[in-house]
Formats: sequence, C-alpha cells, structure tokens
Amino acid sequence: MIICHKREELRRVLDGFRLKKQSLGFVPTMGALHQGHLSLINQGLQENAFMVVSIFVNPTQFDNAADLIKYPRTLAHDIELLQSFSERIVVYAPTVEDIYGNTIAAKSFDFDGLEHQMEGKFRKGHFDGVGTVVKRLFEIVQPDYAYFGEKDFQQLRIIQKLVEKHALNVKVIGCDIFRAADGLAMSSRNQRLSEAHRAVAPFIYQILKAAKLRFGMENAKEVTEWVEAQFDMQALLELEYFTIADENTLLPLETKENTKSYRAFIAVFAGEIRLIDNIALN
Ligand code: PAJ
Repeated sequence: MIICHKREELRRVLDGFRLKKQSLGFVPTMGALHQGHLSLINQGLQENAFMVVSIFVNPTQFDNAADLIKYPRTLAHDIELLQSFSERIVVYAPTVEDIYGNTIAAKSFDFDGLEHQMEGKFRKGHFDGVGTVVKRLFEIVQPDYAYFGEKDFQQLRIIQKLVEKHALNVKVIGCDIFRAADGLAMSSRNQRLSEAHRAVAPFIYQILKAAKLRFGMENAKEVTEWVEAQFDMQALLELEYFTIADENTLLPLETKENTKSYRAFIAVFAGEIRLIDNIALN
C-alpha cells in the first residue's frame, strides 16, 4: 500500500495509474476509520482499479473548537487497517499546510439552499468548510468516482450540488448507511460515547424505523410530535432536531406529494456527543 503525505508525491503516483488508463475511485475521510468507511472503500474497490483514501481532519468544517480538538486521531491504526484491507489503496494523509497553505479559511458557497437546512442551522459555516476541503481534494486527486455515505445525507446532496455547479469531472456515488448489529449508525464519534450512552444510542434508529411506519398513516407534524414525545421520556438522549424533508431539495415536508421521495433526519446529543442519522421513508 502506498502512503503519501504531500500532494506532489500523490500526484506522481496517480499520474502513473492514469497513464495506464486505470479507473480511480476516492473516499475522503477524517480518519478514525470504522466499518462504515470500509464499506465505502469496498464498494469503490469493486468498481475501480485503485482507491485513494484521504485521512484529514478538516479544521474549517468544525463550528466548535472543542469538537475539533477532541476529534479522534488514530492515523497509525487507520493505516494498519487499510493495509490489511487491500493492496489497491493509496492513502493520502496530508498536513493542514498541504491542503490550505498559510491561510486556513473556508470559501463561501451557494448550494441553492441545501446548506441552510438541518445541519446548516445548527452548525454554522460547516458546509462551507466541507465544500472547501472536498473541492480542494477533488482538484488534488482528480478521481473518476467519489464515494460518500448516506449517513451524512445532507453532505452527500451538497457534494452532488458542488460537482454540478462547478462542472467538476467526477461522478459522485451515494452509499448505504452501515450500522452496528444493534442498529446504531457507525460513526467515528461513537468511540467517545460513555458506556451508558452507547447502550441507549440504538434508540435513535428504533425511533427512525417507528417513524417510517407512522409516516404511512400520519402526517409529518404528527410523526414529529410523536418522536419529540419519545425523546422527552428518554433521559440520556437529547433531541436537537427531527425533520421530515424532501430528499431532493431537503426542504421540510409541508404537503405530501406521491411523486416525491422523503426522508426523516435526526440529530441527538448523547451527553456531549452529537449523533446524526436518517432513514428513507418511501
Ligand atoms: P467522515 O465523517 O470521516 O466520513 C467519511 C465518509 O464516510 C463520508 O462520506 C460519510 O458519510 C461516510 N460514512 C461515515 N459513517 C458511515 C456509515 N456508518 N455508513 C456509511 N457511510 C459512512 O464526512 C466526512 O468525514 C467529512 O465531512 C469529509 C467528507 C471527509 C470532508 O472533510
């Protein structure tokens, strides 16, 4: 497995692949790798000759300085894991300088309103940071395909919009949410949960599945009120938002239309740890 810390090194390696016309897939990550990340890489390995996996904790997408400091960094372990996973992986683990030079700042993007919903309301500037780093990574890696998890569905939609608006030459592939056996969506943040919080966290997915059933019989307002009442009774979890939205525009559902697809989105605090999840409703 090849590991590059500088974009020049990476460019030399990838130019070699491109000369042989080998298809290149890309999975950008912030490390602390788990089976959710591996499921994306695995899908990419089936569809491409080589996969680039970037590992970079992007400072500009954190709206909370403490969250950035506490974000788990396990590079040696991540590299070991990828090494045992496949020989067809190139790791790009850059320094902040390699990505940003001397100015660590996010650019401002217009994602046609996708950025103002849900996560955008609660994490100011988050999607400008994501847009900045992903655009930069796409320029450096120049992949044919890039894989993003539906776990961060709003992020996936925003990356699709970024590619469309800037006419970037990459195909974005959305991948299923990978869950632990008890239903909790895998996340790098799960390892920071206390034992008690980890034990109740599967409640989030149980509620999403129940909400999906109710959505067949009740309107969005009724379902939302029911979900809020369930969390009021759950002492260890604090609901930040539950929203039923149009999958395409991410606008909250007002009147259900048969031709549209909807999804329920949720953000919950388990102690200090913020968890997000979502489920397709039709
Ligand atoms: P990170 O949270 O490390 O996630 C990297 C990719 O893995 C994202 O596309 C995310 O949706 C996907 N992923 C995480 N958990 C998953 C799960 N349980 N099932 C399926 N996919 C999952 O998302 C980021 O990093 C950053 O914002 C990034 C795009 C790298 C930009 O900095």
